[in-house]
Amino acid sequence: MDKTAKADEVSKNIFYGYAEAVTKAIPSYIEDTGSGTELGKAVEYCLTAPGKRIRPALTLAFCDIFGVDCGLAMPYAVALEMIHTYSLVHDDMPCMDDDDLRRGRPTCHKVFGEANALLCGDALLNRAFEIVFEAAVRDGRCGAAAGRELARLAGTEGMLGGQALDIANENTEAGPDVLLETYRLKTSALLECAAAVAVELARENGRYFNSSEEEFENAAAATVSFTRNLGLAFQIKDDLLDITGDPGTLGKPVGSDERDSKRTYVAAVGAEKAARDMESYTEKAVEAAAVFGERGRILRWLAAELLDRKH
Ligand code: IPE
Ligand code: IPE
Ligand code: MG
Ligand code: MG
Ligand code: MG
Repeated sequence: MDKTAKADEVSKNIFYGYAEAVTKAIPSYIEDTGSGTELGKAVEYCLTAPGKRIRPALTLAFCDIFGVDCGLAMPYAVALEMIHTYSLVHDDMPCMDDDDLRRGRPTCHKVFGEANALLCGDALLNRAFEIVFEAAVRDGRCGAAAGRELARLAGTEGMLGGQALDIANENTEAGPDVLLETYRLKTSALLECAAAVAVELARENGRYFNSSEEEFENAAAATVSFTRNLGLAFQIKDDLLDITGDPGTLGKPVGSDERDSKRTYVAAVGAEKAARDMESYTEKAVEAAAVFGERGRILRWLAAELLDRKH
């Protein structure tokens, strides 16, 4: 992996700036969500916890790459973070991964009870689409298309489909191909969604700097290849951190995959091969980003940064 990409302080500051902007914007999007009720408190508790905000920050990064105003994209970016957060709330519940710690805090069901955690996930999902529809009324066709991509990639063709496979794979000898398909769905899909929002908004606002139809479609295809490979590397890293990470730094437990008899890629091919494959998926992501030239610098930095992450 190219070490110069990771040392790119300019890209690092820009990316963390996007993440910070999302974190600052979030409270204004949940001001009157069940104000004062247990459900409202649960939503606020989960959404304001210190997540890395990778998906919404990536949405804004792709908006800059495609020439879309980040302010226009913010509601869609926040909605994506809400959907991701709901997926974590449900993922941690006793009927799924049964974990007690998330983003450095006791999990939602530990604090508010299982029924409220279930409803909290549902509330985050509904609020996400309320925000998207509100923005789409303003933005028209391209906003509606961005919302459609969110729904598709969070659904059975994306994150939910992957979570279902993840459960089905437990206690089986599922091979690398099944596991990679699981990871493409459960993890890459929401990263793909970050790019899809920018691409759809760009169809009417920005259009990748007045590129031709063909250049635009090539760039759109490259976002899919970049995010799919990035997601595979991201999930393999997540599995490795579940074995070797430090819970204090991670903000979530270690060892829960083995306890839950999860069939992970690491369990299927061994930690050494998994680590090598993680690097090669990262390299494939970087190759896909080449089409963006200098504009894709932040994507190269992100791929290198996530490879070495400790949380
Ligand atoms: C955790 O995602 C779930 C996976 C897909 C592995 P993140 O590692 O992005 O979690 P947060 O948002 O920073 O808490
Ligand atoms: C979860 O994968 C991916 C989701 C779609 C939530 P994991 O179950 O490994 O994620 P963590 O380790 O609990 O964050
Ligand atoms: Mg899980
Ligand atoms: Mg989990
Ligand atoms: Mg995990």
